[in-house]
Amino acid sequence: MRKIIIDTDTGSDDAVAILMALRDPSVQVLAVTTVCGNVNMEQATVNAFRSIDAAQTYVPPVHKGAYRPLMRDAVTAENVHGRDGMGDIGLPVPDMLPEKEHAVEAILRLVRENPGEVEIVTLGPATNLALAIMKDPEAMKLVKHIYSMGSGGYGMGNVTSVAEFNVFVDAEAYKVMVEFAVPKTLVGIDICWLPGAFFEEEEIEAIRSEGPVSKFAMDCNEALIEYSRRVRGRRKLDLPDPYAMGVALWPEIVTEAHDCYCYVCTDQTPAYGQVIVDHHKFQAVDKSKLPRHAPNARVIKSVDTSLFKQRLRAALKTETVTG
Ligand code: BDR
Ligand code: CA
Repeated sequence: MRKIIIDTDTGSDDAVAILMALRDPSVQVLAVTTVCGNVNMEQATVNAFRSIDAAQTYVPPVHKGAYRPLMRDAVTAENVHGRDGMGDIGLPVPDMLPEKEHAVEAILRLVRENPGEVEIVTLGPATNLALAIMKDPEAMKLVKHIYSMGSGGYGMGNVTSVAEFNVFVDAEAYKVMVEFAVPKTLVGIDICWLPGAFFEEEEIEAIRSEGPVSKFAMDCNEALIEYSRRVRGRRKLDLPDPYAMGVALWPEIVTEAHDCYCYVCTDQTPAYGQVIVDHHKFQAVDKSKLPRHAPNARVIKSVDTSLFKQRLRAALKTETVTG
């Protein structure tokens, strides 16, 4: 059974990714760790519990993590996911409490207890991971793989023209994570904007009718759907974190990926938060005259969006065995 830690700034798309992992019988979610991002860390923790409750499977331990980014003030996204990060639809607060152990300690302990086995899926700013790497790099070298929703991938950003939200919130942390030598996969925001990747209004309605978990997944994204109407002129849904979780859970959805050298821009310039993705394919000059950098991440270029949607719908509506 695969062992996964989910690190999340739980907003409404993180919630769907959490449902996917908790309802997958081939993985065990060892812990959910929370971080500030979409909303403050306390609210992200409440939302993690809401998602766990909605999954109707089992309750992994939840550990609270960083209140703020490494170097900068927190930036949040209530304008996108709602004031509560979950669409402001009046979701109840489950009667569940976080563990006393800090997220960073929990990550390090779980990795030490399961050397070479733990896969981390990080769905928010990389602050907790950077702190874990800085605190005990030897332990973090025992991580099997990091899957990250972060960067513009091969495209543009969603906060600035070059920076995607998770990197923009804490680019210093993202740099620590990207430069750390463990196998990792980056899923950029470009993936959930591929042709066919959006969930159109008819699909949203169809999914809503497929059962309580499916309905929860669509309902809690109401603010995100409305955000699309405001910025794109149409009610539709993009799901960055579920695409990242999908790449982790269902590798068969990946149709193109490259091992790349990724450089995270942390200078206080308009490039702050950009991840430059070099897949060594450009031939405009003699490459031997340029500095060579070894790849430090696999970057997803394309996925089969219709297979992803099929898997997602099945995961949300299929009855699963509780653990
Ligand atoms: C990322 O930022 C957050 O708003 C989402 O939850 C996702 O992790 C997309 O840029
Ligand atoms: Ca997120």
